Amino acid sequence: MADALPHSLLNGVIVSVIDARISPLDRGFLFGDGIYEVVPVYQGKPLRLDAHFDRLQDGLAALEIANPYSRTRWAELVHQLIAANDGGDMGVYLEVSRGAGGGRDFLPEPNMQPTVFGFCFRIVAPKPELLARGISAATLEDIRWQRCDIKSVALVGPVMLKMEAKRRGADEAILVRGERLAEGSSSALFVVRDGRIATPPASHERLPSITRVVVADVLDALNLSLDVREVRRDELLTADEIWIASSTREALPVTSLDGKAVGEGKPGAVWRRVFDEFQALKQREVD
Ligand code: PDD
Repeated sequence: MADALPHSLLNGVIVSVIDARISPLDRGFLFGDGIYEVVPVYQGKPLRLDAHFDRLQDGLAALEIANPYSRTRWAELVHQLIAANDGGDMGVYLEVSRGAGGGRDFLPEPNMQPTVFGFCFRIVAPKPELLARGISAATLEDIRWQRCDIKSVALVGPVMLKMEAKRRGADEAILVRGERLAEGSSSALFVVRDGRIATPPASHERLPSITRVVVADVLDALNLSLDVREVRRDELLTADEIWIASSTREALPVTSLDGKAVGEGKPGAVWRRVFDEFQALKQREVD
Protein backbone atom coordinates (compact mmCIF):
# COMPACT_ATOMS: atom_id res chain seq x y z
CA MET A 1 0.00 0.00 0.00
CA ALA A 2 1.40 3.36 -1.03
CA ASP A 3 0.35 5.39 2.02
CA ALA A 4 0.57 9.15 1.48
CA LEU A 5 3.30 11.01 3.36
CA PRO A 6 2.01 13.99 5.40
CA HIS A 7 2.70 16.88 3.02
CA SER A 8 1.12 17.38 -0.37
CA LEU A 9 1.18 19.97 -3.11
CA LEU A 10 -2.03 21.70 -4.11
CA ASN A 11 -1.99 24.38 -6.79
CA GLY A 12 1.52 25.54 -5.98
CA VAL A 13 1.26 25.43 -2.19
CA ILE A 14 2.54 22.76 0.23
CA VAL A 15 -0.37 21.70 2.43
CA SER A 16 -1.04 18.84 4.80
CA VAL A 17 -2.49 15.97 2.78
CA ILE A 18 -5.46 15.73 5.14
CA ASP A 19 -6.28 19.41 4.60
CA ALA A 20 -5.94 19.36 0.80
CA ARG A 21 -9.35 19.98 -0.78
CA ILE A 22 -10.54 20.11 -4.37
CA SER A 23 -13.99 20.68 -5.81
CA PRO A 24 -16.24 17.67 -6.47
CA LEU A 25 -16.90 19.36 -9.81
CA ASP A 26 -13.24 18.87 -10.73
CA ARG A 27 -13.12 17.15 -14.10
CA GLY A 28 -10.43 14.79 -12.81
CA PHE A 29 -13.13 13.44 -10.46
CA LEU A 30 -16.10 13.62 -12.84
CA PHE A 31 -14.43 12.47 -16.07
CA GLY A 32 -10.93 11.21 -15.28
CA ASP A 33 -9.99 14.27 -17.33
CA GLY A 34 -6.35 14.66 -16.38
CA ILE A 35 -2.80 13.39 -16.55
CA TYR A 36 -0.49 12.02 -13.89
CA GLU A 37 3.13 11.08 -13.32
CA VAL A 38 4.94 8.93 -10.79
CA VAL A 39 8.56 9.97 -10.30
CA PRO A 40 10.98 7.75 -8.35
CA VAL A 41 13.15 9.59 -5.84
CA TYR A 42 16.29 8.15 -4.26
CA GLN A 43 18.07 9.83 -1.36
CA GLY A 44 15.84 12.84 -1.93
CA LYS A 45 16.77 13.15 -5.62
CA PRO A 46 14.37 12.46 -8.48
CA LEU A 47 15.53 10.02 -11.16
CA ARG A 48 15.10 11.19 -14.78
CA LEU A 49 12.87 14.10 -13.76
CA ASP A 50 13.10 15.71 -17.21
CA ALA A 51 11.81 12.56 -18.91
CA HIS A 52 8.81 12.60 -16.55
CA PHE A 53 8.18 16.28 -17.31
CA ASP A 54 8.43 15.56 -21.05
CA ARG A 55 5.84 12.81 -20.77
CA LEU A 56 3.60 15.02 -18.62
CA GLN A 57 3.82 17.73 -21.27
CA ASP A 58 2.98 15.24 -24.06
CA GLY A 59 -0.06 14.02 -22.12
CA LEU A 60 -1.29 17.55 -21.43
CA ALA A 61 -0.83 18.47 -25.11
CA ALA A 62 -2.82 15.37 -26.16
CA LEU A 63 -5.68 16.45 -23.85
CA GLU A 64 -5.34 20.10 -24.91
CA ILE A 65 -4.70 21.23 -21.34
CA ALA A 66 -2.25 24.13 -21.02
CA ASN A 67 0.68 23.23 -18.80
CA PRO A 68 0.20 25.43 -15.72
CA TYR A 69 3.93 25.73 -14.92
CA SER A 70 7.28 26.20 -16.60
CA ARG A 71 9.81 23.38 -16.31
CA THR A 72 11.77 25.39 -13.72
CA ARG A 73 8.68 26.00 -11.61
CA TRP A 74 7.71 22.32 -11.77
CA ALA A 75 11.19 21.30 -10.63
CA GLU A 76 11.05 23.82 -7.75
CA LEU A 77 7.68 22.50 -6.59
CA VAL A 78 8.75 18.86 -6.80
CA HIS A 79 11.88 19.58 -4.77
CA GLN A 80 9.81 21.52 -2.19
CA LEU A 81 7.44 18.59 -1.88
CA ILE A 82 10.28 16.09 -1.45
CA ALA A 83 11.94 18.30 1.20
CA ALA A 84 8.65 18.83 3.06
CA ASN A 85 8.44 15.04 3.40
CA ASP A 86 12.06 14.72 4.60
CA GLY A 87 13.56 13.31 1.41
CA GLY A 88 14.84 9.75 1.31
CA ASP A 89 13.49 7.14 -1.11
CA MET A 90 9.97 7.85 -2.28
CA GLY A 91 7.62 8.06 -5.21
CA VAL A 92 6.21 11.46 -6.12
CA TYR A 93 2.72 11.39 -7.62
CA LEU A 94 1.78 14.46 -9.68
CA GLU A 95 -1.60 15.06 -11.20
CA VAL A 96 -2.87 17.82 -13.44
CA SER A 97 -6.58 17.76 -14.13
CA ARG A 98 -8.43 20.13 -16.42
CA GLY A 99 -9.92 21.75 -13.32
CA ALA A 100 -13.43 22.43 -12.04
CA GLY A 101 -16.15 24.07 -14.07
CA GLY A 102 -19.61 25.30 -13.14
CA GLY A 103 -21.24 21.89 -13.64
CA ARG A 104 -20.91 18.79 -15.78
CA ASP A 105 -20.61 18.94 -19.51
CA PHE A 106 -18.54 16.50 -21.58
CA LEU A 107 -17.23 19.42 -23.58
CA PRO A 108 -14.86 21.43 -21.36
CA GLU A 109 -15.48 25.12 -20.75
CA PRO A 110 -12.88 27.34 -22.43
CA ASN A 111 -9.87 28.62 -20.45
CA MET A 112 -10.28 26.39 -17.42
CA GLN A 113 -7.76 26.64 -14.60
CA PRO A 114 -6.05 23.23 -14.19
CA THR A 115 -5.88 21.65 -10.74
CA VAL A 116 -2.41 20.47 -9.69
CA PHE A 117 -2.07 17.94 -6.91
CA GLY A 118 1.00 16.08 -5.74
CA PHE A 119 1.81 13.74 -2.91
CA CYS A 120 4.59 11.36 -1.90
CA PHE A 121 4.71 7.78 -0.72
CA ARG A 122 7.60 5.64 0.45
CA ILE A 123 9.31 3.31 -1.98
CA VAL A 124 10.81 0.40 -0.12
CA ALA A 125 13.56 -1.68 -1.69
CA PRO A 126 12.27 -5.18 -2.49
CA LYS A 127 12.94 -7.67 0.30
CA PRO A 128 15.62 -10.34 -0.33
CA GLU A 129 12.87 -13.03 -0.27
CA LEU A 130 11.08 -11.26 -3.12
CA LEU A 131 14.29 -10.95 -5.13
CA ALA A 132 14.99 -14.64 -4.52
CA ARG A 133 11.46 -15.71 -5.47
CA GLY A 134 10.36 -13.24 -8.15
CA ILE A 135 6.75 -12.30 -8.78
CA SER A 136 3.80 -14.02 -10.42
CA ALA A 137 1.72 -12.78 -13.33
CA ALA A 138 -1.49 -13.67 -15.12
CA THR A 139 -2.00 -13.16 -18.84
CA LEU A 140 -5.15 -11.12 -19.48
CA GLU A 141 -6.73 -9.58 -22.56
CA ASP A 142 -6.14 -5.83 -22.57
CA ILE A 143 -9.52 -4.20 -21.99
CA ARG A 144 -8.14 -0.63 -21.91
CA TRP A 145 -8.67 2.06 -24.52
CA GLN A 146 -6.75 2.87 -27.72
CA ARG A 147 -4.59 5.67 -26.25
CA CYS A 148 -2.53 3.83 -23.63
CA ASP A 149 0.39 6.11 -24.57
CA ILE A 150 -1.36 8.85 -22.55
CA LYS A 151 -0.79 8.61 -18.80
CA SER A 152 -4.43 9.39 -18.10
CA VAL A 153 -5.87 9.35 -14.58
CA ALA A 154 -8.82 7.34 -15.97
CA LEU A 155 -7.43 4.04 -14.64
CA VAL A 156 -10.52 1.91 -14.15
CA GLY A 157 -9.31 -0.55 -16.83
CA PRO A 158 -6.04 -1.38 -15.05
CA VAL A 159 -7.87 -1.41 -11.70
CA MET A 160 -10.23 -4.13 -13.00
CA LEU A 161 -7.29 -6.01 -14.52
CA LYS A 162 -5.31 -5.90 -11.26
CA MET A 163 -8.31 -7.22 -9.35
CA GLU A 164 -8.68 -10.07 -11.85
CA ALA A 165 -4.95 -10.86 -11.61
CA LYS A 166 -5.27 -10.98 -7.82
CA ARG A 167 -8.26 -13.32 -8.04
CA ARG A 168 -6.00 -15.59 -10.08
CA GLY A 169 -3.34 -15.41 -7.37
CA ALA A 170 -1.01 -13.20 -9.43
CA ASP A 171 0.90 -10.03 -8.53
CA GLU A 172 0.71 -8.40 -11.97
CA ALA A 173 -1.37 -8.71 -15.13
CA ILE A 174 0.52 -9.15 -18.40
CA LEU A 175 -1.75 -7.69 -21.05
CA VAL A 176 -2.18 -9.04 -24.57
CA ARG A 177 -4.15 -7.76 -27.52
CA GLY A 178 -4.99 -10.97 -29.34
CA GLU A 179 -1.68 -12.63 -30.09
CA ARG A 180 0.38 -9.48 -29.42
CA LEU A 181 1.98 -8.55 -26.12
CA ALA A 182 0.89 -5.09 -24.90
CA GLU A 183 2.46 -4.28 -21.51
CA GLY A 184 1.95 -4.96 -17.81
CA SER A 185 -1.16 -3.47 -16.18
CA SER A 186 1.20 -0.95 -14.55
CA SER A 187 4.59 -1.87 -16.00
CA ALA A 188 6.69 -2.25 -19.14
CA LEU A 189 7.81 -5.73 -20.21
CA PHE A 190 11.01 -7.47 -21.24
CA VAL A 191 11.27 -11.04 -22.47
CA VAL A 192 14.48 -13.10 -22.64
CA ARG A 193 14.38 -16.05 -25.00
CA ASP A 194 17.19 -18.04 -26.60
CA GLY A 195 19.76 -15.54 -25.35
CA ARG A 196 17.99 -12.48 -26.87
CA ILE A 197 16.30 -9.73 -24.89
CA ALA A 198 13.20 -8.15 -26.40
CA THR A 199 10.79 -5.37 -25.44
CA PRO A 200 7.77 -4.23 -27.46
CA PRO A 201 8.10 -0.87 -29.27
CA ALA A 202 6.36 2.39 -28.36
CA SER A 203 2.82 2.57 -29.71
CA HIS A 204 -0.64 3.84 -28.81
CA GLU A 205 -1.11 0.50 -27.00
CA ARG A 206 1.63 1.19 -24.46
CA LEU A 207 2.77 3.86 -22.06
CA PRO A 208 6.21 5.20 -23.02
CA SER A 209 7.78 3.84 -19.83
CA ILE A 210 10.73 5.75 -18.43
CA THR A 211 12.02 2.74 -16.51
CA ARG A 212 12.06 0.86 -19.80
CA VAL A 213 14.56 3.46 -21.06
CA VAL A 214 16.57 3.13 -17.83
CA VAL A 215 16.67 -0.66 -18.33
CA ALA A 216 17.75 -0.12 -21.97
CA ASP A 217 20.60 2.09 -20.66
CA VAL A 218 21.50 -0.60 -18.13
CA LEU A 219 21.64 -3.20 -20.93
CA ASP A 220 23.85 -0.84 -22.91
CA ALA A 221 26.21 -0.49 -19.96
CA LEU A 222 26.32 -4.29 -19.75
CA ASN A 223 26.97 -4.59 -23.51
CA LEU A 224 23.80 -6.60 -23.94
CA SER A 225 21.74 -5.90 -27.02
CA LEU A 226 18.02 -5.22 -26.91
CA ASP A 227 15.55 -6.10 -29.66
CA VAL A 228 12.74 -3.55 -29.78
CA ARG A 229 10.04 -5.46 -31.61
CA GLU A 230 6.52 -6.80 -31.29
CA VAL A 231 6.46 -9.89 -29.06
CA ARG A 232 3.93 -12.65 -29.64
CA ARG A 233 1.89 -14.01 -26.78
CA ASP A 234 3.13 -17.53 -27.46
CA GLU A 235 6.74 -16.43 -26.95
CA LEU A 236 5.89 -16.06 -23.27
CA LEU A 237 5.37 -19.82 -23.05
CA THR A 238 8.98 -20.53 -24.03
CA ALA A 239 10.58 -17.48 -22.40
CA ASP A 240 13.64 -18.06 -20.24
CA GLU A 241 12.97 -14.85 -18.34
CA ILE A 242 10.24 -12.20 -18.17
CA TRP A 243 10.79 -8.89 -16.37
CA ILE A 244 8.42 -6.09 -15.48
CA ALA A 245 9.74 -2.54 -15.14
CA SER A 246 8.23 0.54 -13.55
CA SER A 247 9.15 3.65 -11.60
CA THR A 248 8.05 2.16 -8.30
CA ARG A 249 9.34 -1.41 -8.82
CA GLU A 250 12.45 -0.89 -10.99
CA ALA A 251 12.96 -4.23 -12.80
CA LEU A 252 11.52 -7.38 -11.25
CA PRO A 253 11.57 -10.95 -12.55
CA VAL A 254 8.30 -12.77 -13.28
CA THR A 255 8.98 -16.36 -12.30
CA SER A 256 5.47 -17.76 -12.59
CA LEU A 257 3.00 -17.03 -15.39
CA ASP A 258 -0.55 -18.36 -15.29
CA GLY A 259 0.55 -20.81 -12.60
CA LYS A 260 3.44 -22.23 -14.69
CA ALA A 261 7.16 -21.68 -14.13
CA VAL A 262 8.90 -19.13 -16.34
CA GLY A 263 12.24 -20.69 -17.39
CA GLU A 264 13.56 -22.45 -14.32
CA GLY A 265 10.94 -20.84 -12.10
CA LYS A 266 13.44 -18.58 -10.37
CA PRO A 267 14.91 -15.14 -11.15
CA GLY A 268 17.16 -15.49 -14.17
CA ALA A 269 20.86 -14.76 -14.55
CA VAL A 270 20.33 -11.91 -17.01
CA TRP A 271 17.83 -10.20 -14.71
CA ARG A 272 20.31 -10.45 -11.82
CA ARG A 273 22.95 -8.59 -13.83
CA VAL A 274 20.37 -5.98 -14.83
CA PHE A 275 19.26 -5.56 -11.23
CA ASP A 276 22.82 -5.02 -9.98
CA GLU A 277 23.69 -2.57 -12.75
CA PHE A 278 20.36 -0.77 -12.21
CA GLN A 279 21.40 -0.11 -8.60
CA ALA A 280 24.78 1.20 -9.75
CA LEU A 281 23.26 3.43 -12.46
CA LYS A 282 20.72 4.90 -10.09
CA GLN A 283 23.44 5.67 -7.54
CA ARG A 284 25.57 7.33 -10.25
CA GLU A 285 22.63 9.44 -11.43
CA VAL A 286 21.58 10.71 -8.03
CA ASP A 287 25.17 11.43 -6.90
N1 PDD B 1 2.78 3.04 -13.70
N2 PDD B 1 2.79 0.90 -18.31
C1 PDD B 1 1.77 1.26 -17.52
C2 PDD B 1 0.40 0.98 -17.96
C3 PDD B 1 2.05 1.90 -16.29
O1 PDD B 1 1.02 2.27 -15.50
C4 PDD B 1 3.39 2.11 -15.89
C5 PDD B 1 3.76 2.78 -14.61
C6 PDD B 1 4.41 1.72 -16.76
C7 PDD B 1 5.85 1.99 -16.45
O2 PDD B 1 6.14 3.34 -16.68
P1 PDD B 1 7.33 4.07 -15.89
O3 PDD B 1 8.53 3.24 -16.10
O4 PDD B 1 7.44 5.38 -16.52
O5 PDD B 1 6.92 4.09 -14.43
C8 PDD B 1 4.08 1.12 -17.98
C9 PDD B 1 3.02 3.87 -12.56
C10 PDD B 1 4.25 3.56 -11.78
C11 PDD B 1 1.77 3.98 -11.73
O6 PDD B 1 0.74 4.20 -12.34
O7 PDD B 1 1.81 3.91 -10.50
